[in-house]
Amino acid sequence: MSLLDLAPVVPVVVVDDASTAVPLARALVAGGLPVIEVTLRTPAALDAIRRIAAEVPEAVVGAGTVRTPGDVEAAVEAGSRFLVSPGTTPALLAALLAGGVPFLPGAATASEAMSLAERGVRELKFFPAEAAGGAAFLKSLSGPLPDVRFCPTGGITPANAPAYLALPNVGCVGGSWLTPADALAAGDYARVEKLATEAAALRG
Ligand code: 3PG
Repeated sequence: MSLLDLAPVVPVVVVDDASTAVPLARALVAGGLPVIEVTLRTPAALDAIRRIAAEVPEAVVGAGTVRTPGDVEAAVEAGSRFLVSPGTTPALLAALLAGGVPFLPGAATASEAMSLAERGVRELKFFPAEAAGGAAFLKSLSGPLPDVRFCPTGGITPANAPAYLALPNVGCVGGSWLTPADALAAGDYARVEKLATEAAALRG
């Protein structure tokens, strides 16, 4: 099964303290969102991925904000089961293709999507989704590029997610709203689970 079809929403998480990773992953899984993207934006990110991979086997943990071949190597070594990038460079694509795990490379134009499809990559992250044209843009691509599917991310909310999820070329959406920084700082995992439960119901 494709990464895009495992869950309607992929939580995009910024982990400042690796000790929060396991309880937050458990809360997301309990709410019905097993696919978790930990962004490589903090020093704690790789440790967070390692802990989730080791202690929350029901989660499918991956790395986001993957920008370099070195990021690919470090993320896979930490136990990432998928990789997500905000955009795609030739060097990064080569590393992703060699990385051995599924990946969603970032694309924001028809040309970028076509270049990736030429390389056999047809499941992409559409980023930054709202700023780059939103659901209307992806709907426009579904005619000429019907074989390319997306996980739009960037500016997605519970209010605009249904419009994306209704499109034939969208498998899931990504977003950071499931794990508010203040909830993580306060250890309020019940709130995370509630947000996940609501998000899991977005695709009816
Ligand atoms: C990101 O790059 O942080 C992700 O795309 C999440 O974006 P969001 O914070 O707008 O959900």
